Amino acid sequence: MRAVVLLLLVAAASAKVYERCELARTLKAAGMDGHKGVSLADWVCLSQWESSYNTRATNRNTDGSTDYGIFQINSKWWCIDGKTKEAKNGCNINCSALLTDNIQTAITCAKRVVEDPKWMTAWVAWNKHCAGKDLSRYLAGCRL
Ligand SMILES: *[C@@H]1O[C@H](CO)[C@@H](O)[C@H](O)[C@H]1NC(C)=O
Repeated sequence: MRAVVLLLLVAAASAKVYERCELARTLKAAGMDGHKGVSLADWVCLSQWESSYNTRATNRNTDGSTDYGIFQINSKWWCIDGKTKEAKNGCNINCSALLTDNIQTAITCAKRVVEDPKWMTAWVAWNKHCAGKDLSRYLAGCRL
């Protein structure tokens, strides 16, 4: 039992939680600003409300699929986790690759998701907290 607790502590300690402006700079460098009409502020807002900038965030959905990582990408459509029925694996990756400190794989997958812009609305928290709102505070004070 003690070993289990220790392991959990180690896992928690190594989860990278991005600082808001650090994330904005990383996304900008990866060409996310304006990609398919989605602004940098939209991606930062989405990450704030979907994962609180935590690269290890996972959340189980009522349909049995799971959302993974900083953008909470769904295992039904975009990655394989071995426990989601009829998974499509649109990004052709193991879902665990969406939970790493380095978010380049998550960024590549998010770009693929919005290849069809209607998918943006699949992010429930983005719809609720970001769509059509003044998002200037998500980039405020960032050296971009
Ligand atoms: C995904 O990666 C994890 C960790 O490396 C591994 O344990 C798991 O078997 C892989 N799952 C699939 C479906 O490939």
